[in-house]
Amino acid sequence: MLRRPRRNRKSQVIRNLVQETIILPQHLIYPLFLLDGQAEAVEVASMPGIFRMSLRDMLKEIESCMRLGLQSFVIFPVIEDSKKDNLASYGIQKNNFYVQALKQIKQEFPESCIVTDVAMDPYSSDGHDGIVENGKIINDKTLDILVQMALLQAEVGVDYIGPSDMMDGRVRAIREGLDQNGFYETGIMSYTAKYASSFYGPFRDALDSAPKFGDKKSYQMNPANVQEALIEMELDIQEGADILMVKPALSYLDVIQILRRACSLPIAAYNVSGEYAMVKAAGQKGWIDEKKVRNEILLSIKRAGADMILTYFAKEWATDFYHQTN
Ligand code: PBG
Repeated sequence: MLRRPRRNRKSQVIRNLVQETIILPQHLIYPLFLLDGQAEAVEVASMPGIFRMSLRDMLKEIESCMRLGLQSFVIFPVIEDSKKDNLASYGIQKNNFYVQALKQIKQEFPESCIVTDVAMDPYSSDGHDGIVENGKIINDKTLDILVQMALLQAEVGVDYIGPSDMMDGRVRAIREGLDQNGFYETGIMSYTAKYASSFYGPFRDALDSAPKFGDKKSYQMNPANVQEALIEMELDIQEGADILMVKPALSYLDVIQILRRACSLPIAAYNVSGEYAMVKAAGQKGWIDEKKVRNEILLSIKRAGADMILTYFAKEWATDFYHQTN
């Protein structure tokens, strides 16, 4: 036998030497759920270890993450039902609690990278990402609202606007809006290939944002399609996106790999709530070794070609990494 691949697996030092994929805390983005007011933090039932929290608690949380080398966050607002309406008006209200919180977070942690959420669903009484008229999602009217949301967020100094709505033309509309208002340094992390997935269930629990009727299939992508992801990719590049996202991650590793090879922009992958919940649930039952499975999942997403991963595992992963390296 001339070739013995096992020689390169002989010892830990050799395995480390030939290791192809490496994750560092700098590659992770931690999603956080923001509550209005001073309320106590509440754990999301379907996401053990993940809390909806007030700004006060979030500032502490961000500080402790920063000490672990975890510096990037995506922040989602939890809106009370009484503030929701058909036009997501609260989302474009100046000084709403989300925008105020973003401002304070950037002021206290200017060295952090803050990604926002732009979509109507957290604020919508219909639980949809666009304006609903006669049971239909109205694309172009929604764009105006998305641009207004993005401008409020850009004004307080966030790093990336994160349109998660999947309306056509939203990246261009937001890019033009930002540039016309002088926010040419604010980036766009676009949810490029966002699928109509059943893996978002726990997130919708966290935000209480499940659609009140129907589903999101007329704007989010069909899980059966990958060519279509290339169309979304081309459009997002033309329209001025800075980072392209694939979401969910685990059932879409092929999409991550194809986009990685097809373009030169950085690729983000969103390891979504349902992917997190499955690992936690099986771990709690003692059916899998939760940490090892977690590490393997994150590696697989990076290996598929993601440059960065949005993941609810970010803090616990970074904590373990910190203890291993210090
Ligand atoms: C909605 C949005 C969703 C997620 C992020 N932004 C849910 C949806 O599209 O219904 C899901 C994230 C997750 O499941 O972790 N704009």
